[in-house]
Amino acid sequence: MKEIAKDIYWAGYIDWDLRNFHGYSTPSGSTYNAYLIKDEKPALIDTVKYYGFDEMLSRIRDVIDPAKIAYIISNHTEMDHSGAIDKLLEFCPNAEVVCSPKGEEGLKRHFLSGSRQGKKEWKFKVVQNAEELKIGKKTLKFFHMPMVHWPDSMATYCKEENILFPNDAFGQHFASSERYVDEVGIETAAREAQKYYANIVMPYGNQVVKALDALKSIKIDMICPSHGLIWRKEEDIKRIAGLYAKWANYESDKRAVIIYDSMWHSTEKIAQGLYMYLEKENVPVKLINLKVGDFSEAITEVMKSNMVLIGSAILNNRILPSVGGFLTYLKGLKPKNRFGFTFGSYGWAKSGFKELEDALKEAGINLISEGRYVQYMPDDDELAKLKETVLLIKKTLDL
Ligand code: FEO
Repeated sequence: MKEIAKDIYWAGYIDWDLRNFHGYSTPSGSTYNAYLIKDEKPALIDTVKYYGFDEMLSRIRDVIDPAKIAYIISNHTEMDHSGAIDKLLEFCPNAEVVCSPKGEEGLKRHFLSGSRQGKKEWKFKVVQNAEELKIGKKTLKFFHMPMVHWPDSMATYCKEENILFPNDAFGQHFASSERYVDEVGIETAAREAQKYYANIVMPYGNQVVKALDALKSIKIDMICPSHGLIWRKEEDIKRIAGLYAKWANYESDKRAVIIYDSMWHSTEKIAQGLYMYLEKENVPVKLINLKVGDFSEAITEVMKSNMVLIGSAILNNRILPSVGGFLTYLKGLKPKNRFGFTFGSYGWAKSGFKELEDALKEAGINLISEGRYVQYMPDDDELAKLKETVLLIKKTLDL
């Protein structure tokens, strides 16, 4: 059992096999981090997905009898963290479930509504923003963080140890036997945290800014998220806090990403032509073919890049389903402060490209010019003209 601070233990579940988290590709698996505080009134901060229950229970038993748990703190209703509360309550029926007002609503909808109503009794302890709870030697303080990641989300702070348990915030989908960022390496952790932010947190930048402001009032020696590795070194905490401030303000780097799919290699030729000119002009660029690349990888590159180029072939007067699906994902995650450009190949009708342009505008991406649309196969002149687009991109990026 890993004691991460005096009388505070990691009691989570390592999901080595996870490869997809509601559409987000997780080639490195994930963890659901529960933290047990041994005190006069023991508290468990968050639980795990339902199928990790036995492992979590075994880790709790290594420290205390689960029946002694007085509080189960549910920082967030989503079932990767609250999915095992129901089962755990069978072992500690007197425990109170501590959550925000929205958390109570969400947990009741998941566990106690409809046919389940009245069959079980849960004791809720609903906490307000900045409320404190003394559990013995230690005091827990709760910070509501609505929309980071759901309306119910909150962070728990242990005042005596200066440890923040911010649930999804600062997390990474990363399975490992190591528990700390510095054991795995800051670059790996920062990369995974960036992918996590892009796919989970990006639409809520304004709320993240508010949460970061609220947390400025407390001293933080350790950040224990609900996924992945713990941030404990001062320089690592500064690094991730700085990155979150940058991401929450929708800042990006002067680089481009080209995301496309093709039918008969025509759109692919345009994508590669754009890539070659961008490379020649020393614009950092990444090329992602949606036939082999996945949405979560592509959206991470969108978050990094100030310039987003999207291309599609036309099929049945519409853009390709792979590109359409990605655009739905993009519109939901709403990257701000980015420029964009559209391109593609068509046979006899190019009205479908309006869908491409409208989707980028709806996602909040500012188009730098008309798109480049080519009938059937691009010829040498059309490919050469892509240089003009690349020079415009360079000028827009001030490179
Ligand atoms: Fe890790 Fe929003 O749940």
